[in-house]
Amino acid sequence: MSDQSLWRLLETPRFGATPLPTQVDVVVIGGGITGLTAALLLKRQGKRVAVFERERIGSGETGNTSAHLTYVTDRSLRDMAKKFGENAARQVWNGGADAIDLIETHAAGSSCGFHRVPGFQCAPFFGGRDDAPSLQEDAAFAVRLGFEARFVEQGPVTGKPAIAFADQAIIQPLAYLAVLAIAIEGSGSSIHEMCEVGSVMQDPLAVVVNGETIACDDVVIATHVPMTGSTNLLSATLLQTKLYPYSPYVVDALIDESIAPGLYSDGSDPYYFLRVHDDRDGRHAIFGGEDHKTGQESDTRARFARLEEALLALMPKARIQRRWSGQVIETDDGLPFVGPTDEHQYVATGYSGNGLTFGTLAGIMIRDAITGVEHPLAKLFDPNRKASSLDALATFAAENVDLPLHFVADRLRGVADDDVECVARGEGKVLTIDGKRVACHRTSTGRLYKVSAVCTHLGCLVRWNNAESTWDCPCHGSRFTPEGLVLGGPAEAPLSPIE
Ligand code: FES
Repeated sequence: MSDQSLWRLLETPRFGATPLPTQVDVVVIGGGITGLTAALLLKRQGKRVAVFERERIGSGETGNTSAHLTYVTDRSLRDMAKKFGENAARQVWNGGADAIDLIETHAAGSSCGFHRVPGFQCAPFFGGRDDAPSLQEDAAFAVRLGFEARFVEQGPVTGKPAIAFADQAIIQPLAYLAVLAIAIEGSGSSIHEMCEVGSVMQDPLAVVVNGETIACDDVVIATHVPMTGSTNLLSATLLQTKLYPYSPYVVDALIDESIAPGLYSDGSDPYYFLRVHDDRDGRHAIFGGEDHKTGQESDTRARFARLEEALLALMPKARIQRRWSGQVIETDDGLPFVGPTDEHQYVATGYSGNGLTFGTLAGIMIRDAITGVEHPLAKLFDPNRKASSLDALATFAAENVDLPLHFVADRLRGVADDDVECVARGEGKVLTIDGKRVACHRTSTGRLYKVSAVCTHLGCLVRWNNAESTWDCPCHGSRFTPEGLVLGGPAEAPLSPIE
């Protein structure tokens, strides 16, 4: 079975690292949905934009998405209205609808598979919980706020109650990134793959890429979890502690035609989500769930096994052909952080599982911020906003309560020296060697890699993820390759090699 996402079967266009520009109007760091959307929209406003991507476009979380294009948020509309007011809740969903419309415009005439489909919020797929009354109220509330929603007594997938939302969508996300990327290149704008931004400097604003300095007027940090930029480390770190990384699991299967193309999610906690679409080889179900905080599960393979079992319980004839996992960033109030963190520096993160929709919306908002237009969601999504309610503060406390525990408890474990022989082929273990905590991985051919187990972000100890073969940090979700290279931040430096 393949462990690459379905989207990565597509070969995206390649962009050279050089020649590097010396000066542009806007530098965008990160070649995912947020970075490329912002870059294209800014180019269309007459800006010269340079996009720097550490690997290839879409190699980060955009390539791991389950590709739901929906304005329906994880946090219910009623809940958002209670916390932020009806107008704000309406604006969040309208912002999502605008994002889907923009994607439709960009995708027109391309082969990136954009289709409008219905979305369904369903009662839990498993168990007997009766969600009908609250689903009915949610549907009526959505209609009152102007959205096309309908309560269905017997919804799809399991025949249980559901809300049907019109006009959601699906797309092949990497094919869509390719459309954006091709439109960005040229007329003074460029994309540079395999280019890591080492630092962001202030006065005058510039970034350092592969040792070269590139001057600019604005910097957009679109790196899933923002790097620190030139904000002082304390404020950047505070923002990072307000981001809660979760790892969801996804399987892709060929199914019969009993379930129609569309988006489905259920009301369990953590919830299951299902995306059904037709491809050349038949009807596909992309089924996800089993989320946990990144780095805090010791047997990640078991998560896949449970997910596959759940899919087969729903669709016994499903033929599972691939599986992958990703990372979503939750926030304390359920809303993303989009906007300036320092003068002329912008971040976008915290999409809570709505990455394609919120990433596109973030691109729109960053274009507006840079061109001096006040977007209606700018204040609500402000990265510097204070926790807006007791609930948000409670979430912040609950999500961070385990940090000291990981920080201290991991250090107390195993003070005696361990033998590297106990690391089997294909496995990874944190051992104590000469009094140091060492992350040891033995490849399938027997080669042993040893790197420091101390995360380069704030010093927690990483853990082995046996499904993905990565080192994951339980504190803020940084991820590293078996050799210690950074796969995802907030850590920006690799784990140090140990001789
Ligand atoms: Fe913050 Fe590792 S990600 S300490």
